[in-house]
Amino acid sequence: MQAEMFWALLTTLLPLTTAFQWTESLTNNTVMTVCSAGDIHLPWNFTLSLDDRIEDIKWIYHAENGSEELIAVYVAGQFAPMPPFSGRVRWTGQGGIVVSKAAVAESGNYTIMVSIADNTHTLVAFSRTVSVKVTSPPTAENGELHARQLFDAIYDNTTGQWVVQLTCGVFTDRGHPAVHVVWTSPGGKTVDSSSENNGTYRLLLPNPPSGGNYTCSVLPPSPAIRCLPPGSPLREGATVTVNEVKASFTLLEARQRETEARQQNMLMQMESANTRLQAELDSVKRQNSLLQKTTASLEARLATATLRVSFHAMLASTFTGIGTLKPFTVITNDGGAFNGTSGIFTAPRNGTFFFLASAGTDRSDNVVWMSLQKDGQAVSVAFTRQSSVYQTMGSVHATLDLTAGQCIWVQSDEAQGYCSNHSTSFTGFLIRADD
Ligand SMILES: *[C@@H]1O[C@H](CO)[C@@H](O)[C@H](O)[C@H]1NC(C)=O
Ligand SMILES: *[C@@H]1O[C@H](CO)[C@@H](O)[C@H](O)[C@H]1NC(C)=O
Ligand SMILES: *[C@@H]1O[C@H](CO)[C@@H](O)[C@H](O)[C@H]1NC(C)=O
Ligand SMILES: *[C@@H]1O[C@H](CO)[C@@H](O)[C@H](O)[C@H]1NC(C)=O
Ligand SMILES: *[C@@H]1O[C@H](CO)[C@@H](O)[C@H](O)[C@H]1NC(C)=O
Ligand SMILES: *[C@@H]1O[C@H](CO)[C@@H](O)[C@H](O)[C@H]1NC(C)=O
Ligand SMILES: *[C@@H]1O[C@H](CO)[C@@H](O)[C@H](O)[C@H]1NC(C)=O
Ligand SMILES: *[C@@H]1O[C@H](CO)[C@@H](O)[C@H](O)[C@H]1NC(C)=O
Ligand SMILES: *[C@@H]1O[C@H](CO)[C@@H](O)[C@H](O)[C@H]1NC(C)=O
Ligand SMILES: *[C@@H]1O[C@H](CO)[C@@H](O)[C@H](O)[C@H]1NC(C)=O
Repeated sequence: MQAEMFWALLTTLLPLTTAFQWTESLTNNTVMTVCSAGDIHLPWNFTLSLDDRIEDIKWIYHAENGSEELIAVYVAGQFAPMPPFSGRVRWTGQGGIVVSKAAVAESGNYTIMVSIADNTHTLVAFSRTVSVKVTSPPTAENGELHARQLFDAIYDNTTGQWVVQLTCGVFTDRGHPAVHVVWTSPGGKTVDSSSENNGTYRLLLPNPPSGGNYTCSVLPPSPAIRCLPPGSPLREGATVTVNEVKASFTLLEARQRETEARQQNMLMQMESANTRLQAELDSVKRQNSLLQKTTASLEARLATATLRVSFHAMLASTFTGIGTLKPFTVITNDGGAFNGTSGIFTAPRNGTFFFLASAGTDRSDNVVWMSLQKDGQAVSVAFTRQSSVYQTMGSVHATLDLTAGQCIWVQSDEAQGYCSNHSTSFTGFLIRADD
């Protein structure tokens, strides 16, 4: 390295003593484009004077990432390729080499350095650099491009409008450097694609769309296109014919669908609001029925709590023989628990009740033989017989715990029994209600 710098310095300081001349036009600043898998031709020929001698030649590759590799050297009349390039670099004489099977990753600068010893044995260095771009062609599904008008319009949220969309593709590989697709409108104008996604280019037509032929093609200066074989369909564009009426109809349909969707959405919102209201109504109804039940039960409790029970009745006509004393003339009947026609008191509620009945005779030999009956069971019994002109009386009485529905009556228990309507009466009242 230090020796090279020394000789470079020497070259600038001393007048040239060699007749070294490059003989072709591959100068510095040349940019070469090579297709991938093709050959990189570097025919760096030169002429020398008879006194000059080639000391050595080096070919160097400067990768785009900055790394540097020796491709081959020529020294002592021998050409020697270096490992990464051996097998695919060929010497074409003097400074010329050919690197075959170029890869896209092998783009970069290629440099030759020639060291010449002149007749004074002074070493002089000459170098040249070219920039090589290895490009690869695009590939497409089925080897050709297709332009299509999509069935559905798309909503362009930058303009707030529905637009017709065209697609062009499908590239399976956009090549290197990646190609770019432009469109030719029916008016002959070139329009850039709106977007690209996974090898498909898209063009959104302005609204309202104009009908006619739209042609998509690869941007002509694309270097990758040069690597396509001649006659490749990818060199040709693809055309789609847009029918203006149909396109407008598509937009109309899209708007219609949007309106329907909006209406559907509103309908769903209304339905959900309705469902909510119905649920609220049901809940109010349930609460109402609960309240009604509570009110009914409270009213029932109030009714029983305030129910008063008391009665007094006098025998309406004289009773003779055996049986329930009746009919009675009812004088008081608070709570309506006493039936004067049947002579039976029916407990309207649970509680403790008091009853008293007295019966009298009219003439001599009349017999009062009576009992107070609770559901057919005597709970108090009286007996008397008139033996003179003076009338006699018997009475029965009881304080009883009754449950609602139990029956109390006065009964004559003797075939000779006699109860005068003048002096027979029956009374009863509730002393204390349960609960
Ligand atoms: C290649 O050479 C050009 C011109 O001399 C230079 O601008 C560029 O940086 C070089 N690139 C590499 C990768 O060395
Ligand atoms: C370069 O030199 C070699 C050997 O002298 C010769 O065969 C070849 O034709 C030359 N190439 C060009 C392009 O002059
Ligand atoms: C630079 O690129 C070359 C050729 O593509 C590769 O072999 C090398 O590993 C790269 N070096 C770095 C540091 O990325
Ligand atoms: C070509 O470029 C190299 C550096 O890459 C430089 O040393 C050389 O002098 C240049 N040659 C010419 C003829 O400009
Ligand atoms: C428009 O659509 C794109 C892609 O669908 C989205 O990223 C963007 O946020 C949208 N812009 C507005 C204003 O809705
Ligand atoms: C891209 O397209 C290829 C076919 O061209 C397909 O196999 C792949 O699934 C696509 N990828 C995405 C993300 O759509
Ligand atoms: C549009 O292209 C078709 C074939 O794709 C062709 O038949 C028709 O004449 C073209 N129309 C115009 C106006 O160029
Ligand atoms: C008793 O009954 C008789 C008829 O049997 C009737 O004439 C009389 O008015 C009744 N007396 C009373 C106080 O009810
Ligand atoms: C009273 O008893 C009689 C005879 O058993 C009956 O016909 C009548 O319906 C009863 N009255 C009431 C209010 O229960
Ligand atoms: C009345 O008493 C009976 C017997 O003890 C009982 O089964 C019933 O529940 C009571 N009724 C009320 C309204 O408390």
